[in-house]
Amino acid sequence: MSALEELERIAIRHAQEAVKLDREGKREEAIAAYKRAIDCLLRLIHAYPNHNLSRLFIQRVKTYKMRIRLLQDIWIDGRTEEDVTSCEVEQRNQRDQIDELILHQPSNVHWSDIIGLEEAKKSIKRAIVYPSLRPDLFPLGWPRGILLFGPPGCGKTLLAAAVANEVKATFISVDAASIMSKWLGEAEKNVARIFRVARERAPSIIFIDEVDSLMGTHRLEVGGEMRVRNQFLKEMDGIIDKKRQIHVYVIGSTNKPWTLDEPFIRRFQKRIYVPPPGFDERLGIFKLYTKDLRLSSDVDLEELARLTEGFSGSDIFDVCQSVQLKVSSELFESGMLDKSSSPREITMRDFLEVLKDRKPSISDASLEAYEKWFNRFKAL
Ligand SMILES: Nc1ncnc2c1ncn2[C@@H]1O[C@H](COP(=O)(O)OP(=O)(O)OP(=O)(O)O)[C@@H](O)[C@H]1O
Ligand SMILES: [Mg+2]
Repeated sequence: MSALEELERIAIRHAQEAVKLDREGKREEAIAAYKRAIDCLLRLIHAYPNHNLSRLFIQRVKTYKMRIRLLQDIWIDGRTEEDVTSCEVEQRNQRDQIDELILHQPSNVHWSDIIGLEEAKKSIKRAIVYPSLRPDLFPLGWPRGILLFGPPGCGKTLLAAAVANEVKATFISVDAASIMSKWLGEAEKNVARIFRVARERAPSIIFIDEVDSLMGTHRLEVGGEMRVRNQFLKEMDGIIDKKRQIHVYVIGSTNKPWTLDEPFIRRFQKRIYVPPPGFDERLGIFKLYTKDLRLSSDVDLEELARLTEGFSGSDIFDVCQSVQLKVSSELFESGMLDKSSSPREITMRDFLEVLKDRKPSISDASLEAYEKWFNRFKAL
C-alpha cells in the first residue's frame, strides 16, 4: 500500500467513526474524530496537491469543519438536536457528492487550440456537434457513445473541452476515479445520479475521463466493480433507446482501451483514436507554446520537433514550460530583479539542456498495442 493510500485509508476510518459518533449523539467524541479526519485530509491535500481527488478532499474538510462548528454551537446554546437538521453531515455529503462529481466546466478551448488531430475532430463534429445543433436534420438518429482512446497527454481531454465549448449543451465532466472513490459511497449510485442529472438537463454531454476505471479491477468490495459496470451499461442502453429521443451523449476517454470488455465497448458506437503527434504536429505544438516566449534567433523549432519523436503534446508543453522556468528563475537568482527587468532570450541550448534529461513518454510497443486494438474495434 502506498503512503497515499495508507493516509487516505486512515482519513476514511476517522471520518466514518466521526459520523457514527455524531449519529449516536456523542458530540465531544465526534468533534475529536472529525478533527482527526480533517487533519489527515489536509495532509493529503498538501502532500498530493495534484491528486485527482483533491477537490473532493477539500470539500470534505469544509463539510466536517462546518459540522464541528454546528456541534459546538449546540453545545454552547444548549439547543436540542432537533433545532438543527439532524444528520446534516450525511445530507451535505449527499449534496457535495453531486457537486464534486459534476464539474460544470465553462471551457475556453477552441478547435484551433488543438494542433492536428484532424480526423478525430471531424469524427467528433459529425457524431455530436452537428446532431446536437440540428437534431431535425438527422431523422435516423446518431451515436450516443463516443470513446476517445490513445496514449496519455495527446489531446483527449482537450477534444472533449472543445466540444463543450462548441455545443450549447450541459457539459458534465467527471472522472471515473472519483466515481469509484471510497469517499462517495456506492459507485453505481453515483453513475445513476450522473445520468439522471444529464437527462434532467438535456441536451447534455457527459464526459467521463479514465472511463476504464468503471471496470474497476481494484475495488476491494466483492462484486462491487461488476455492479458499477452493469449500471453503466444499463444507463447507456437507456440513452441509446431508438424509440425515445433523449439528447444525452457520453464521451469516454481512456488510455487503456484493452481493459474494456466487449459489451462495454459496444455501447460506444464511435471509437476514435487520438494518436501521438507526428513531426508537423510537434512543430505546431512547439509554435503554440513558444508564441509568448522570447526566443533567440538560433532556436530551431523544426530541429526540436525532429528531436522529440515519441513525445506527447503534454511532454512538449512541459519542455516549453521548463525552459521558461529556467530563464525566469535565473532572473530572480541574479538579484537584479526590478519592475522593468525581463528574462533573457531563450536559446537553443536551453531547450537542448532540458531535453537531455527527458525520455519520450510514448514507446513503440505501446503504440503498437493501440493500433492493434484500433484495427480490431475501429468504428470511425
Ligand atoms: N494536439 C495538441 N495540441 C495542443 N496541445 C496539446 C495537444 N495534445 C496535448 N496537448 C497539451 O497537453 C496537455 C494534456 O493533454 P490532454 O489532457 O488532452 O491529454 P489526454 O490525452 O487527455 O491525456 P490522459 O490520457 O493522460 O488523460 C494539454 O493540456 C495541452 O497542453
Ligand atoms: Mg485526459
